[in-house]
This record gives sequence, structure tokens and C-alpha cells, in this order.
Amino acid sequence: MSLLLSPVKIANLELNNRVVMSPMCMYEVQKKDGVLEPFHFAHYGARALAKVGMVVTEATAVLPDGRISDWDLGLWNDEQADKLTELTTMLHSFGTKVGVQLNHAGRKAENAQIVSAPSAIPFSSDYATPHELNESEIQAVKDAFVSAAKRAKRAGVDMIEIHGAHGYLLDQFLSALTNQRTDQYGGSLENRYRLVHEVVTSVRAVFDGSLWIRLSLTDYDDSGVQNSLDDWKQVAKWLEADGVDLIDVSTGGLINAAPNFPVHDGYQTPFATELKQAVSVPVSTVGLLDNPGLCEYILQNHQADLILEGRALLRNTNWLSDAAKQLHDHDFKPYNASYERGQK
Ligand SMILES: Cc1cc2nc3c(=O)[nH]c(=O)nc-3n(C[C@H](O)[C@H](O)[C@H](O)COP(=O)(O)O)c2cc1C
Repeated sequence: MSLLLSPVKIANLELNNRVVMSPMCMYEVQKKDGVLEPFHFAHYGARALAKVGMVVTEATAVLPDGRISDWDLGLWNDEQADKLTELTTMLHSFGTKVGVQLNHAGRKAENAQIVSAPSAIPFSSDYATPHELNESEIQAVKDAFVSAAKRAKRAGVDMIEIHGAHGYLLDQFLSALTNQRTDQYGGSLENRYRLVHEVVTSVRAVFDGSLWIRLSLTDYDDSGVQNSLDDWKQVAKWLEADGVDLIDVSTGGLINAAPNFPVHDGYQTPFATELKQAVSVPVSTVGLLDNPGLCEYILQNHQADLILEGRALLRNTNWLSDAAKQLHDHDFKPYNASYERGQK
């Protein structure tokens, strides 16, 4: 049996395999109310039937103005939580675990009434100049993460991922490129980490499931201001002490810059491998991992502990069955006998 398709336990979370559906915004909330629609049930249900170890929902906003766009999911009210309960129940009945990614878009909110951020620096000339959050507004953001976490718990999710990557609000606080505050939330790395610390520990206090965080380990910034790998190792150590169960390593999104090296299969995995040196909690990898052989190699060689698949699962719902064939993993079973006949 391959490692990729065999079960794994991360703290108390048991997954049937090491393939997790990466959070991906679908911008399909036609009513703009943040509530899951039939599309989402079909979309996530299809990947559950295809036997991913866990479905992680797309970035789900903790406040209306924390949405990337008005077409995003939200978890700031009970109607949204009730639908999430329905989705979780359905996905569990298909045998998959469920994670929800909680987010506040900060200065990258495209349709917000009030765009906010640690400092009044726009993402680009196409984006609004954000309002600089004051300390009581920062507390309100933290409280919104906690309320959303309570709702996620009530909805029965197995995992909450705090979105600390891709240049959204928490990432904006972490970096001196976007955080030029002079109060306790800005300046030193420890101060820039303060909001993440408060969010993570407060969510940890109300949620006893698996708690993950996604980080961007480089901003592809050539100015010398971005956090160094050593800074990220320090952040990872703090996160581990704060009770995080897994660190999900990604890159980019903070500033308007693309990778400054040729992008290739598994291009983000070296960042995960490097971070693994600093912590004992598991570290996952994501990004151009379409080739199951490469995924297996990464796992066999302890370069990362878990694989997140994004676009490969959009292109091919059947990715896991195809991976089993490629890896000669005869133990992997499609969802039912009829699906198995489709493999012949
Ligand atoms: C359509 C789309 C939407 C995405 N939305 C999110 C998101 O909501 N949250 C997030 O952390 N990453 C998001 N991402 C990034 C993916 O989760 C993933 O990290 C990235 O696509 C690289 O992995 P891949 O090569 O397997 O697709 C999105 C990517 C795509 C293609």
C-alpha cells in the first residue's frame, strides 16, 4: 500500500489517506449571503465520493467585510452555520472528514463596504486604500474568528484552518511589508505575531478538533523586508506552543509579485521541508503536486506529512483512483462496487 493512500493520524484526527482537498474559493454564492448553495454540496460531495481524506472548504469569511468577494462563503451567522451542519453531515456520511478554512481578507477584500488592514497601504492601484484598524476593531476581528469557530464546532467540522497565508488579513499583520504599526501589533516579529497568537489561542480554547494554520513562507519580495525563513521558523515554534496541530505551507499572495524562480512540480515543498526542521507538529505541502509518484516520494522521504491537492482535483475528480493505478496500490477501493467497475 502506498503512503499517499494509506491512513494517517494527526493528533486526534484520523484520515483515510494523506490526500486533502485544498481550500479553493468557488465564488458561487449567488445570493451573496455567505450561505452554502446546492453547487457547494455537489462540488464537495463529488470529492468526498472520490475518497479524499478530508475536504477543506474554501476561504470562509468571519465577517461580511472579510470576504474576498461578495460571492464567498461566510460563517458570521447561524443560517450559514445551519447549512454547514448539513454539508458536514452529508460529507461525513460519505466517509470523509471535513475542515473549514476561516478567513478575513483585509486589504484584499474586493467588494467590502469598509476595507481594513493593519496599515493604510493598498495591495495595488486596483485596490482600495484600507482603513487602519484600531485596537478595538482588532479585538472585534479576533472575536469574529472565535464566533465562527464556535459555529464550525456546532456544525460538526473535524478541522479548522486559520488562513494566515496569501496576503489576507492575518498574513498582512505578520509582515513588515504590510504592517507598519507602531502599537503592540506592529514593529517586532513578536508584535506582528500578536494577532495571530490571539486568534489561534482563542480559537483553540473553544474548538477541540484539529486546528491548522496556512502560512505563506515567502512573499517573492526582493526588497529584503519580507520575513526570512528563520522568522517563519520562529513563528512556527510559537504556533506549536499555541496549540496548532498542523502547519500548511504555501507561498505568495502578500504583494503583487510572482515567484522569482522557474515554477516546477512541487515548487513549494522545499519550504515545508525546511519548516519541518523547526517543529514537531506535522507540516503539509501544496502546489503543483499533480503527479502521485512525486507525492509518494515527498512522503516516503519525510519532506512533508500530508499532501493538499487543489487544481488537480478540479480537473479530475477521479484523481485518487488514477493515483492508485499509477502507484500500483491495489488496496485503494473506489467509493462502491459500481464505481470500481468504472475503473476497469
Ligand atoms: C480556484 C482557486 C481558488 C483558491 N482559493 C483558495 C482559498 O480559498 N484558500 C486558500 O488558502 N487557497 C486557495 N487557493 C490556492 C489553493 O488552495 C492551492 O494552494 C494552490 O492552487 C496550489 O495548489 P495546486 O497546484 O494543487 O492547485 C485557490 C486556488 C485556486 C486554483
